[in-house]
Amino acid sequence: MVSELTCLPIRFNFKTFLYRLAVNRVYIKTYGCQMNERDSEAVAVMLRNRGYSIVGSEHDADIVLLNTCSVRDQAEQKAIGKAGYLTNRKKKDPNFIVGIMGCMAQNQGSDLLDKLPDLDLIVGTQKFHRVPDHLDNIIQTLEGQGPQPAKLVDLEEEADSQNTIREHIEEDASVTSFVSIMQGCNMRCNFCIVPKTRGNERSRPIEHIVEEVEELVANGTREVTLLGQIVTSYGRNILPFKNKKSPFVQLIERVHEIEGLHRIRFTSPHPRGFKQDLIDAYAYLPKLSPYVHLPLQSGSDRMLKAMNRPYRVESYMKIVDGLRASAPDMAFSTDIIVGYPGETDEDFQETAQVFKQVGFNMGFIFKYSPRSGTVAAELEDDIPKEVKEARNHELLKVLEEQSMHSNQKLVGTTQEILVEGPARKGENMFMGRNPQFRKVIFPASERLVGELVQVKILESSVTTLKGELVLEGVEQNEPLLTV
Ligand code: SAH
Ligand code: F3S
Repeated sequence: MVSELTCLPIRFNFKTFLYRLAVNRVYIKTYGCQMNERDSEAVAVMLRNRGYSIVGSEHDADIVLLNTCSVRDQAEQKAIGKAGYLTNRKKKDPNFIVGIMGCMAQNQGSDLLDKLPDLDLIVGTQKFHRVPDHLDNIIQTLEGQGPQPAKLVDLEEEADSQNTIREHIEEDASVTSFVSIMQGCNMRCNFCIVPKTRGNERSRPIEHIVEEVEELVANGTREVTLLGQIVTSYGRNILPFKNKKSPFVQLIERVHEIEGLHRIRFTSPHPRGFKQDLIDAYAYLPKLSPYVHLPLQSGSDRMLKAMNRPYRVESYMKIVDGLRASAPDMAFSTDIIVGYPGETDEDFQETAQVFKQVGFNMGFIFKYSPRSGTVAAELEDDIPKEVKEARNHELLKVLEEQSMHSNQKLVGTTQEILVEGPARKGENMFMGRNPQFRKVIFPASERLVGELVQVKILESSVTTLKGELVLEGVEQNEPLLTV
């Protein structure tokens, strides 16, 4: 007699199913950049589709996955510390599963097992989409149902892996969303580990990206940030220039056509690929927000050369001036490394000078950290820690002053704000950003989330502006009402 159970698909195993019900809560902790955030979101969707539930805390989880960063040593140390703490938990609960994904997994591979022998899973940057299969295998093994998982360490390159970072969490549909347009980087900046961890440039087709943005917009997204390690190189290998426009500008134009989308941002461009076609785009594409994160790294030509950055301060400034000509209200942000081997006080002062000249009001200042496998790692890390610290501090002070000053100038003006959602503090307080990416807090109501509204700025601090809604139809000399 054939039992009912044998009629089920052969892969179905009742015992495993029950076990899965009990141990399917996954917490994903993300370190590092927006690309990592986006990868984690895509993994979360894949796991949900496989029947796992995603939880918001490691304490509620049966499985913790750390999506890691390798750009600086500190980021790796943090994740290793966390993984050590988590694998300890396995002593009490042997069924608890801990995995490391992303850049550190790719960078250190199975060497991680020397430090963390109880890790269950190590998944590289081109294998995020394999995580559900790996977890299924591990769970079956824990339950004594399957053979040892074929792969605990999965790091190989995989053609088309850039096309697997696609799905978004629909329930969390947010006003602003990140869209990964490419993976990897072909540049070889001497300090940077990214080409090693992320591989060569691989771009997604325009059609796929446009489809993804259309779906996001249908679910309530009003602003997208196009993501890649070097977005100005987007599509170089798959698309020709058209009317002197690069594939990246062609992509932006296509995304710009999507009805219902209000704003387009991107990160990060490279000064070398920031050509006139992209500069001009700011003048004729109103959804392209006038805020550019343009990594400078150093304001000294000598240092740029030493870093193998293929541009000089003069060409960087031409881009800045060109963008200001295209969009006079343009705001800039940047990345700077202080204390790169051989950086003298004069080199640093040149950086400080350019920093002021551009007037960055946002930016990231990093202390140089040697990364094994990079060209710079062969050089002596000769700038003392205190000097790196002092240079870092000096630039942060300039940044603070410039940010404070540019925010103060906005007091009394009316800004167009895209309402993102409730502010973290304050009843009926909402948060949004102006086109230049400045955060603004103001009283509003839920129905305005996702809308572009006019807000009069009343107060400013270094990081935030406060204001009130300007209601349509209100005469200038009437008192301004708040909702
Ligand atoms: N193009 C990438 C860069 C990734 S790394 C992007 O999309 O942003 C981010 C920043 O980290 C770099 O711009 C650089 O300023 C900094 N960085 C990279 N390697 C570093 C190192 N070894 N030490 C300190 N900072 C570093
Ligand atoms: Fe790194 Fe330079 Fe590419 S900073 S990501 S190698 S452009």
